[in-house]
Amino acid sequence: MSTQRPSDVAPIDDWSRLLGGKVAVVTGGGDGIGAAISALFAQHGALVEMAEIDADRAERTRRAIEGKGGTVRAHVVDVTDPTGVDRLADAVLAAHGHIDVLVNNVGDYRPLVRFEESTPESWDAMYRINLFHVLAVTRAFIGTMTARRRGSIVNIHSVEGLRGYPGEPVYAAMKAAAAHFTTSLAVAVGRSGIRVNGIGPDLTQSPQVDYITGFEDHEELWPSWAPVGRLGWPEDQARAALFLASDLSGYITGHNIPVDGGTKAGSGWFYSPAAGRFVNRPTTL
Ligand SMILES: NC(=O)c1ccc[n+]([C@@H]2O[C@H](COP(=O)([O-])OP(=O)(O)OC[C@H]3O[C@@H](n4cnc5c(N)ncnc54)[C@H](O)[C@@H]3O)[C@@H](O)[C@H]2O)c1
Repeated sequence: MSTQRPSDVAPIDDWSRLLGGKVAVVTGGGDGIGAAISALFAQHGALVEMAEIDADRAERTRRAIEGKGGTVRAHVVDVTDPTGVDRLADAVLAAHGHIDVLVNNVGDYRPLVRFEESTPESWDAMYRINLFHVLAVTRAFIGTMTARRRGSIVNIHSVEGLRGYPGEPVYAAMKAAAAHFTTSLAVAVGRSGIRVNGIGPDLTQSPQVDYITGFEDHEELWPSWAPVGRLGWPEDQARAALFLASDLSGYITGHNIPVDGGTKAGSGWFYSPAAGRFVNRPTTL
């Protein structure tokens, strides 16, 4: 009924287990942001179904989650391959018959190709690793959500899909497409009980973006790089994903949240320790 309160529709009985008994698929769940999401979801009672291309990463994260009492299965699949997506869907649906949560997390900015040197092949590669699988995995599972009239989809794209990114405009375009797919699908399926939201990470330590090794000499510059003044961690992304996946966010759909330490909010403004204030035209590195 359209006037029901959230506490009637989806009561939260146990705040320490926000996904108790929910089936959650996480792509790229073996490392980085996806591994943190898998671990936090399992800690909150989800039955996690990880899709991971790298068998060693899948196994390591599966063991780590099980070691802490979580329930998880790892599927070694390439989600950019339609047959891999079919295998994943067959295995998950054979076990549970449905899913409650889908996190499309796989993505990569590499190899960085200057636009002038890019080719139809490099555009296609950016499409496959950042957008194709978001569509393919979502389509593979959305029918089970509409059938049960409930579900939450969380697409991890990038802050670069929400702002101009001069470094790799094609990557940014694919991420922007994932963000707008999020918004548009949310409107399409909201009345079927499904919510769809996105997260735009930035500055988050992971195997793909290794700030610690890459910038270890510049610890003092974090306050100028990120308004919150520190490096982001996969757990920061996982906490936002848990909120969007769970009934805590039951009245939120179609939104793309930058989880970026404030970089998008501060776009164009940099804190200058030397000047002791924010500047929009920094003259020193
Ligand atoms: N880390 C950041 O600061 C940052 C910034 C912007 C956007 N993102 C986005 O966040 C998401 C996660 O990023 P991350 O930094 O954790 O990446 P990561 O590369 O460190 O981890 C990605 C995981 O996905 C797996 N994977 C890669 N290709 C796969 C495939 N085809 N099929 C199945 N699994 C696959 C990898 O083996 C790895 O375990 C990506 O979409 C990325 O574009 C991250």
